[in-house]
Amino acid sequence: MKLPGAGAGLQREAQAALSEGGARPAQPLVEVKDLVRHYRAPGTMSKRQVIRAVDGVSFDVIEGETLGVVGESGCGKSTLGRLLVKLDSPTSGNVRFEGLDLSTVHRGALQGLRRDLQMIFQDPMGSLDPLWRAERIIAEPLRASGMRDRHELRARVEELLSTVGLDPELGSRLPSEMSGGQRQRVGIARAIATGPRLIVADEPVSALDVSVQAQVVNLLAELQSRLKLSYVFIAHGLEVVRHLSDRVAVMYLGKVVELAPAEELFAAPAHHYTAMLLAAVPSADPGRRSGVAVQGEVGSAMTPPSGCRFNPRCPARQTRCSTEEPVLARIGESRLVACHYPLKAEFRSATVASGTASDLPTFSDAPPKAVPAIRPPAPSNRRNTPNAR
Ligand SMILES: Nc1ncnc2c1ncn2[C@@H]1O[C@H](COP(=O)(O)OP(=O)(O)OP(=O)(O)O)[C@@H](O)[C@H]1O
Ligand code: SF4
Ligand SMILES: [Mg+2]
Repeated sequence: MKLPGAGAGLQREAQAALSEGGARPAQPLVEVKDLVRHYRAPGTMSKRQVIRAVDGVSFDVIEGETLGVVGESGCGKSTLGRLLVKLDSPTSGNVRFEGLDLSTVHRGALQGLRRDLQMIFQDPMGSLDPLWRAERIIAEPLRASGMRDRHELRARVEELLSTVGLDPELGSRLPSEMSGGQRQRVGIARAIATGPRLIVADEPVSALDVSVQAQVVNLLAELQSRLKLSYVFIAHGLEVVRHLSDRVAVMYLGKVVELAPAEELFAAPAHHYTAMLLAAVPSADPGRRSGVAVQGEVGSAMTPPSGCRFNPRCPARQTRCSTEEPVLARIGESRLVACHYPLKAEFRSATVASGTASDLPTFSDAPPKAVPAIRPPAPSNRRNTPNAR
């Protein structure tokens, strides 16, 4: 969420401190390097047939910022989220939290890490134990981190319930006796109980009624500024992260294809897939944005297209796009994009060596077309990973 002086500004400050060799350490809170998570494909014994859920992802999370992560269903957002809080282990690559490589943290030391890294899940009903009352759910991470005194626990649980806007009386209810919004608030109370530094919120509002979504988003924003939290906020579409994120990472089939300060990304997407997602965002002024119409389905995470994974759906693809995989490269001051022929003329010269892109339409000068064949995602049936404890 946008904190005064945080986000893109904070990001720039951190970068400036780095480049100027400033006295303040500018180490990111989280560093993700070449992260890969492959799963064995169901129904096969072959080790070579894998689902490339996360397939070589690198980025940082700066303290105090909200990094939005968006992409269509199955592109690896939740897998990435679980890897960030060590609810899953990478096939290769690593996640560092304040410089500590999470893969080197063994069982005994995991509890300390759990205090700092927490997760909020999409489906509060699925992520809360249905047989536990709210107060027990919220107390559980406190107990696990060593708080034993009953009175102290009760007082802290009541405080947490109030902090998330719930009447402490609700502590005696089971999840099934609460509304969706109340359940998600319990999930949030559990996540903040131990005073974490980073919370991965995996589609925390998409299972809620539209009327409740804004309340929960506002609560997350308020908690962030009050508790100095950093968020990785996962969502399917850009509209959800628009007002929350300082920076946005766009994922496609296990890869980050664009990462940019939110304002810049919304003003002028550089990747054709970002433009497609953006064109799907309802606008109060329909004439303002011209979107590229993209057909087709998201490809298979088992057999992703060669070259650029987005090439079968990309209106600007060239021969090179199906043979050569674009790397995520810096363009402009603070933007990364993985595309041989990015949108916006000023970005192209930075990454395109050959002159083949000169006749491509840019986002800003392309004629308006009907917006994309991108469908709202089907609700996920997968049960959430057990609680971060
Ligand atoms: N435990 C698992 N075993 C096998 N495959 C998995 C597992 N978890 C995820 N996958 C697969 O990895 C890919 C990425 O899944 P993931 O849940 O990370 O995507 P997502 O972007 O969060 O999707 P959604 O928006 O639907 O939640 C999918 O193809 C999914 O089926
Ligand atoms: S690399 Fe080619 S196919 Fe991929 S997004 Fe860019 S222009 Fe489209
Ligand atoms: Mg998911």
